[in-house]
Amino acid sequence: MHAPGAQPFGIPWAAQPPALRARSVLQWHWATRGTWTPQRWTLDFAVFLDGEPVGAQGLSAVGFPVRREVATGSWLGLPYQRQGLGKEMRAAVLVLAFAHLGALSAVTGAFTDNIAAVKVSRALGYHDDGQQIADRDGARVLARRFRLTAPPDMQRWPLVTVSGADDEFLGMCGAADPAGHQALPLGGYPHA
Ligand SMILES: CC(C)(COP(=O)(O)OP(=O)(O)OC[C@H]1O[C@@H](n2cnc3c(N)ncnc32)[C@H](O)[C@@H]1OP(=O)(O)O)[C@@H](O)C(=O)NCCC(=O)NCCS
Repeated sequence: MHAPGAQPFGIPWAAQPPALRARSVLQWHWATRGTWTPQRWTLDFAVFLDGEPVGAQGLSAVGFPVRREVATGSWLGLPYQRQGLGKEMRAAVLVLAFAHLGALSAVTGAFTDNIAAVKVSRALGYHDDGQQIADRDGARVLARRFRLTAPPDMQRWPLVTVSGADDEFLGMCGAADPAGHQALPLGGYPHA
């Protein structure tokens, strides 16, 4: 999913030999499913193109019943990058989050040299939300933070459809009662 030497993730799990990589992927998914609560959950979607698995798009939250904020992370196999899929799959989970779960904001981050990840966030309307010091496999580096405080423009993503977001699922996400929550005045600062 990335060229040799590139390090889009803090932990270089994608650069491991195939057997170790497969084990760590499975352990990640078992852990997220096994520890799911309405207060802390990670929902990892597989991304399919013409029936073939090509990547993953994650959506997660901590304290969603009150905070109403989600975070995202994603990857695509190299042959499937730079075709607009990264934007499309991010848009899909944002529609789920804002339109179905009642999210009021979404955050994400990327190392400063991860141009593709930064551009996906820009294209979806996120604004700058500062920087943080990160540990990239033992190196002290800067990461950029981004925040989105309005739903994605549905006119731009007419093909996104959400299924399965029933009452049971909303309850699992701590999203059963969106009433009474107000958007905070976090938006509005200028794009850099
Ligand atoms: C991040 C990632 C999911 C983006 O998916 P993608 O399908 O390649 O992105 P898109 O095709 O939707 O392109 C989004 C924008 O980035 C640009 N872009 C994509 N790859 C680029 C690259 N290598 N260099 C410069 N620009 C790039 C596109 O031109 C597009 O710009 P636009 O909005 O001006 O048209 C994908 O690159 C990936 O899997 N990277 C490795 C893992 C990773 O970095 N995950 C995120 C960790 S924070």
